Amino acid sequence: MFRSIVTSLLAGSAIVSSAAWAQDRQQSVSASDMAAAQERAESIVAQMEPEEKVRLTMGIMPLPIVPGGEIPEAAIPAAGFVPGVERLGIPDLTETDGPLGVAYVMGLRGDYATAMPAGIAMGATFNRDLAYAQGTAIGAEARAKGFNVLLAGGANLARDPRNGRTFEYISEDPLLTGQLIGWNIAGVQSNEIVSTIKHFALNGQETGRKFVDVLIDDAAARESDLLAFQIGIEIGQPGSVMCAYNRVNSEQGCASEYLLNQVLKEDWGYRGWVMSDWGAVPGLYAAWNGLDQQSGSQLDPDTFFDEDLLLAAQADPAHMARLDDMNARVLTGLIAAGVLDNPVTPGGEIDWEAHARVAQQAAEQSIVLLRNENDALPLARDAGSILVVGGYADSGVLSGGGSSQVHGEGGPAILRPLSNTGAFSVFISEQYQRGAPLNSIRARKPEGTVRFRPGRYASDAAALAAQTDVVIVFATQWMTEGLDVSDLGLPDGQDQMIAEIAAANPNTIVVLETGGPVDMPWLDDVAAVVEAWYPGQGGAEAIAGVLFGEVNPSGRLPITFPRDASQLPRENIPGMLEYDPDFGGNPPSPDSKLYTDYNVEGSDLGYRWNARQNQEALFPFGYGLSYTSFASSGLTTDGSTATFTLTNNGERAGATVGQVYLVSRNDENLQRLVGFERVELEPGESQTVTVDIDPRLLAEWNETGWTIFDGDYGFALGEDAERLGPVVKVAVQGRSWED
Ligand code: GLC
Repeated sequence: MFRSIVTSLLAGSAIVSSAAWAQDRQQSVSASDMAAAQERAESIVAQMEPEEKVRLTMGIMPLPIVPGGEIPEAAIPAAGFVPGVERLGIPDLTETDGPLGVAYVMGLRGDYATAMPAGIAMGATFNRDLAYAQGTAIGAEARAKGFNVLLAGGANLARDPRNGRTFEYISEDPLLTGQLIGWNIAGVQSNEIVSTIKHFALNGQETGRKFVDVLIDDAAARESDLLAFQIGIEIGQPGSVMCAYNRVNSEQGCASEYLLNQVLKEDWGYRGWVMSDWGAVPGLYAAWNGLDQQSGSQLDPDTFFDEDLLLAAQADPAHMARLDDMNARVLTGLIAAGVLDNPVTPGGEIDWEAHARVAQQAAEQSIVLLRNENDALPLARDAGSILVVGGYADSGVLSGGGSSQVHGEGGPAILRPLSNTGAFSVFISEQYQRGAPLNSIRARKPEGTVRFRPGRYASDAAALAAQTDVVIVFATQWMTEGLDVSDLGLPDGQDQMIAEIAAANPNTIVVLETGGPVDMPWLDDVAAVVEAWYPGQGGAEAIAGVLFGEVNPSGRLPITFPRDASQLPRENIPGMLEYDPDFGGNPPSPDSKLYTDYNVEGSDLGYRWNARQNQEALFPFGYGLSYTSFASSGLTTDGSTATFTLTNNGERAGATVGQVYLVSRNDENLQRLVGFERVELEPGESQTVTVDIDPRLLAEWNETGWTIFDGDYGFALGEDAERLGPVVKVAVQGRSWED
């Protein structure tokens, strides 16, 4: 699927990427392994007693905050527990979140984990090796703690940047999301545990998440959100797919015949199992529509997948065959990932040092330099005084709320509850991970030259700014599962504070800790802007490393920063005004009329939408500055591979991301990322890169399969989605095929 041959003009030979994380990534499961696993699974199911057939199909949430029944002795306090069948050598399923590390669950277990940067930060690295390394580290910690299922692989496309889980997902582009999440999942499963990919599919907002009805044509879905999952599943081979809360064309996601049976299992031939999201099962009928396992069943109106399921199966041979298939799928996923033959036992060793290095590299490579007027950055260590303001920079770095919340040793540095109503309000609190940027900045400056202000009063900060050489303002936009943001403004008066500080001292640097794009009304008045996202436990050192030049920023935007909300397909997130924030997890409301029409943009979201609307972003997809300068040239392509040369024509080493876009098809203008490669270059060095082009990115979906039309296809190299090089046209022969 993906082949990148990196050859250096200097060395004249193929060189493996010099990144520390270049490793022989391997897909966890081959197709033949999967077939063998299925055969073995079916032989185990054939030995099951009837009542044993509804054990793997029913899970609970083993947490005291969840009402309903005692917690099994064998369960570890975490997201999920599914009893196994000891007689047949089937282990209990011990399930933990999440995509950013082993979840903290309010510290209930008394342990901690390596806190990786947010998913969108991983997207900004454009680095498959590092995505794999992050998954490997998180999976190792999950196994060592006794978990054999990691609820990871958040792959939903960023259809609306106001979605509360934008931070948790990867990007707005199906290729970038699919490849990075795929290798991240492969890394998790290299520990012989199961990773999920989630939330399947089109889970694009948190407002009314359990019932909002997503309207989208089949072709638009297949060419965007579904393509991201398809690529992620092909590369990562996740043992399980977690279906989504929302409805799609009126079908509940976890009971969607279209998504689960037609697309995932029939068209894509997926052989693992579909687990529900927690509290996402509308009824027993979901089993007949493709759902294999009810998760967190206390959160559902009823436990459908135990006695009721067995009775229905005993009353109808077709249902019994389906129940056998449900069990066989769970077992296939477990066997293929290596869980059955490598039982997990708690108390394993964890290489904390190595994982901390991965977390810091991931933070360093995710930071995007958005503005750097007159080389305001990097800062000199030995000159001048610095005022650091806001963002709890004296305490830690911001992280996203909800099930993906992770903390390192000592737990949260800061925890600001948003509310204390509802059982899940404990999850919905603004939390800062340890590692204070102020300390990292102070460590690089002479004693007494760095002061701090919390930033609660703009006047105070501005007055001090006027007396200081450089001001570094940390600005935060907290995002969380369960709630969307109303707009892209910085909350709590931060815009006003930045404006007053910049008026007092134009040598102001803004460090953004945000879950996605934000408005910047003060942009022209500040010297520099750095996007650090939610940078995880390595964030403080990574931010200071960039500010003082030890790290040459190489992140590229995985999501468009719009000029304002009028550039988005929808004025508001649907339901934003009708629904009250519900910290208890919105109750299902099947008769709700709430819908969101993704047919407005179809598969053209993000930069593709801007290309269609002919509008320029504040900062486009793929954008990022460096402390050196690069050139890209020499694009050649035959439509199935593309070759180009990247050159570092500056004074210092750095990394850039070569981006190849499809920009025209016959006389239609369009834009699709068809290939990318992150390359590290010494000053003066050039490297020639060749990437494969996935034919689905040139094609249209046509009800039963893909069609590439005959004709002239135009490709261009991009510094980002808007700064494109000359168009190279190539004749492509038309063809059609099925998935
Ligand atoms: C949540 C999330 C899902 C998570 C699950 C278990 O509601 O949507 O991502 O894995 O519950 O915590």
